[in-house]
Amino acid sequence: MSSTNRVRKAVFPVAGLGTRFLPATKAVPKEMLTILDKPVIQYAVDEARAAGIEHFIFVTGRNKGVIEDHFDLQYELQDTLEKRNKKEALEVLAKYQPTAGTTSFTRQQAPLGLGHAVWCARDLVGNEPFALLLPDMVMKDDKGCLSGMVELFQETAGNIIATEEVAWEDTHKYGVVERGKNLDMGFEITGMVEKPEPGTAPSNLFINGRYILQPEIFSLLEKQGPGAGNEIQLTDSMLTLAKSQPFFGYQFTGNTYDCGSREGFIKANMAFAMDDPELAKEIANELSRLIEK
Ligand code: G1P
Repeated sequence: MSSTNRVRKAVFPVAGLGTRFLPATKAVPKEMLTILDKPVIQYAVDEARAAGIEHFIFVTGRNKGVIEDHFDLQYELQDTLEKRNKKEALEVLAKYQPTAGTTSFTRQQAPLGLGHAVWCARDLVGNEPFALLLPDMVMKDDKGCLSGMVELFQETAGNIIATEEVAWEDTHKYGVVERGKNLDMGFEITGMVEKPEPGTAPSNLFINGRYILQPEIFSLLEKQGPGAGNEIQLTDSMLTLAKSQPFFGYQFTGNTYDCGSREGFIKANMAFAMDDPELAKEIANELSRLIEK
């Protein structure tokens, strides 16, 4: 286990097909669908940057090239805006522009599961602890889920998984952890299971898509056979790693929107719109008008 408690790199698996959003996702990756004026992927990247992440690693797939373009400098646009003196637009571009050399892209090649996607980042991560953010899960909280996890990690080292409460009848849709002793900021994880059969979950704390993991996970992923849904599951390798390294749970109390589903995506748009002073009033009025209809 690495002795450093700095988390410099974050991995973003973005190879998923997004079939639930067809036909929108035929030519546009689901991570580029927008919540207000930012693509879904930008929310996870902003959360990571706010938590101190310095290098952003994307595990992509075919038809995802536009994600790379999104994080590149758009010279022609920049030039046109400068010539037209469009200061505000230039400021927006600058605010979200990663510095050259701080993004990396690799391709998953085959859709073998989340565990396989994470394994594909092994060379880019190297031998240090890293954050993993599943961009479909958009978090809304003043503090930022990963920032809270980094604080916990500085106390505990080991591995951190963010969790949230979910209705018991929905536990079979997620990875679920078993809760051990409470700590100041989090709790010990004593077990975990991916997509438990209904009625068998060890708790109603689901894995919400944010992790800080030690690099030893990669050699376990390399040997990991298929699990739930016949996919290579990250949770199965984390369970093996938990035999030799501690795992801690961070209980996130903000709002999470599963933007891999239509309802989550629409709810996220509504929630962020209600937070935007330019939009809130008009959107609230329109929603009440539609409800009263
Ligand atoms: C993945 C993880 C699961 C986690 C979920 C959160 O599942 O395997 O443990 O609870 O993300 O979104 P997937 O959504 O890819 O089926």
